[in-house]
Amino acid sequence: MKKNFKLYGIVIFVVAIVILSITVTNFQKQSTMLREEVFDKCEMIALELKHTREYLAETMAIANMEHNEATRLLMPAIAGNEIGKKFYNATGYRLRQVSSKYRNPKNRPDKFEEKALAEFESDKNLTEYKGVDEIESKRVLRYLIPLHIEEACLKCHSARETVPGFIQEGYPEDKATDYTFGDLRGAISVAVPIDRAEAEIKGNLVHMTIVTTVGMVFLVTFVFIAMNITIKRKEDNNKN
Ligand code: HEC
Repeated sequence: MKKNFKLYGIVIFVVAIVILSITVTNFQKQSTMLREEVFDKCEMIALELKHTREYLAETMAIANMEHNEATRLLMPAIAGNEIGKKFYNATGYRLRQVSSKYRNPKNRPDKFEEKALAEFESDKNLTEYKGVDEIESKRVLRYLIPLHIEEACLKCHSARETVPGFIQEGYPEDKATDYTFGDLRGAISVAVPIDRAEAEIKGNLVHMTIVTTVGMVFLVTFVFIAMNITIKRKEDNNKN
């Protein structure tokens, strides 16, 4: 009987280890899947803003719109900021345009964005930069794509004397001048909170682990009792 209790203990121990390792592997797998899914979404969002910016720049050029205070709100960078604010309020996803040589100090990059911009600067073929980070003590996934200077950008980002007057007046500390074709101008930066999604995964796994553990303990106990009854019967039979 004592031997059987030892066996029971070993089986329970092994089962607990197996359940624990399955849980850990599951959590890692689901977290990776979540990240991949969110990064895919970020890519879509960043590309959407990139194309919106291009459309606005082209339309302004085709319509031969003057670049002045009145048409200011339709400019790619300013429209992008406003779209970003609306998008944040609706979804909680942060959407920004940043540059180390910023025109508007609000577009100054943070540490993660600085690192991304440095990578884009050193590798012209790099099309994205992503990673896990913390913003205001919340875990976020971050995703950036580079923006390079095209012909249409030069009107407002080449030599300071040549950019429209309202920009010269409106941005006295402007660093976003003296660019040439093909230069890295900045990046579109997306940040998505993942605390809630990760907590949900954890919650589901804890629930599943408890159910599986209770089930397994019942099963092992049942097998143990059945085994003992059989052995006892055999022993009684042998005695008779
Ligand atoms: C009509 C003028 C104009 C054109 C054309 C223009 N920009 Fe800008 N750009 C601005 C202004 C004004 C700002 C500052 C916006 C703000 O106040 O947030 C800016 C800001 C930016 C920023 C945000 C970082 C910063 O410097 O504050 C990026 C990135 C940017 N522009 C990229 C581009 C690219 C790439 C192109 C060409 C595809 C382009 N811009 C064309 C006027 C222009």
